[in-house]
Amino acid sequence: MSRELTIQATTVFEKNWDAKTRFVVNIGGSRSTKTYSILQFLIVKAIESTEPLTISVVRKSFPSMRITVLRDFFEILKSYDLYNVENHNKSENTYQLNNTLIEFFSIDDAMKRRGSKRNILFINEANELTYEDFFQLNIRTEDQIFLDFNPSEIFWYNDHLQHRDDVTTIHSTYKDNPFLSYEQIKEIERLEQTDLQYWKIYGLGQFGGSFNTVFTYVPVDTIPTNTAKPVALGMDFGYSQDPTSLVEVWIDNENNIYLNELIYDKDLTNQDIANKLSEYGIDRYTEIIADSAEPKSIEEIRRMGFNIKPAVKGPDSILNGIDILKRHKIHVTKESTNLLKEFSMYKWITDKNGNTLNKPVDMYNHAIDAVRYVALNKLRKSNEGKYNISIVGNSKMNSARTFFGKPSGGIYAIR
Ligand SMILES: Nc1ncnc2c1ncn2[C@@H]1O[C@H](COP(=O)(O)OP(=O)(O)O)[C@@H](O)[C@H]1O
Ligand SMILES: [Mg+2]
Repeated sequence: MSRELTIQATTVFEKNWDAKTRFVVNIGGSRSTKTYSILQFLIVKAIESTEPLTISVVRKSFPSMRITVLRDFFEILKSYDLYNVENHNKSENTYQLNNTLIEFFSIDDAMKRRGSKRNILFINEANELTYEDFFQLNIRTEDQIFLDFNPSEIFWYNDHLQHRDDVTTIHSTYKDNPFLSYEQIKEIERLEQTDLQYWKIYGLGQFGGSFNTVFTYVPVDTIPTNTAKPVALGMDFGYSQDPTSLVEVWIDNENNIYLNELIYDKDLTNQDIANKLSEYGIDRYTEIIADSAEPKSIEEIRRMGFNIKPAVKGPDSILNGIDILKRHKIHVTKESTNLLKEFSMYKWITDKNGNTLNKPVDMYNHAIDAVRYVALNKLRKSNEGKYNISIVGNSKMNSARTFFGKPSGGIYAIR
């Protein structure tokens, strides 16, 4: 007997459905339908399968599993009229759905079942598991592994999964959930005013909860071009491994700096870079401070008609650059996806005793390096730690800078 099943699904469900890679990683903010959608997927998968399947749903602890993913699962089943108490083994926490056995267990109390094999695995709140927990489950899973979590901390996913090519990453936020009430939405959006770290993790679904991050910053919609003035563009070179990045840096006279990412791409030749600069309308006066480690690239781009020069790094240029930047309140435009990600991931090294060292991890720093070059060359400390921005009349003056973006008014010099 066949019957039709109609389900109401979000785009998160569709993305999980379409993902054919071994690992399907759902990273997202609070209430973004991660868990619900994966459970729907597992149910449809179970119904569709003509062969016997085993699906394991796992969380770190059973008490938290019972009130979340286990409850949701049975609620969804019941809402589809698929629940039959005879198929539910309440002592073993398993459910037989057609040919498929769905088992629920926690890491804390199921050594036995961890060791058994399965076809499909769903790890709910995966960041609660250790890498060893994950490893043991992974090697005994035949087909696909689904993970969901809020990006509240850097964990084994970042080292072991993020950069593999058999991973589909599905990012979601509460905005992907059309089933939330007005009050639920307001409750999440309140975070933007009350706690930026939490807003980033549970609102925007971005990594950033690590209190060990080097910078704090505020996302903004646009650069306030009426109060801020352009400083320069920063460029870091990459090629096949790392991206080439270009960031514009603006400053106002209240110590706010505004950053906007223009380029963040791999495999760009110097010609490609020059083409992009032209596309952005960057003229031959706009100063570009670039990584001095690539004099040849700088010279080539300079010969193509741009005002690009090497950053003067000086001793301790990493710490020095960070120090200069941290004297400002940093604002990053919301379109600067990669720069935002780097800011949320760039952190100080923690030694094995948990002490923070005075040295950042050399990762997530490509766009940040571009900004740092501008800081080192253009935002050096003045005596009072304040900048006097004055209008000078002579555009030929050495210290003068021109505008990029829309030209308006005069020429500004920062002293
Ligand atoms: N497809 C759906 N149909 C109906 N309600 C849904 C659906 N997806 C999500 N929801 C509702 O949204 C809530 C939050 O979704 P959930 O998957 O728990 O979010 P997350 O795991 O991303 O935090 C669920 O408890 C449920 O009430
Ligand atoms: Mg969830």
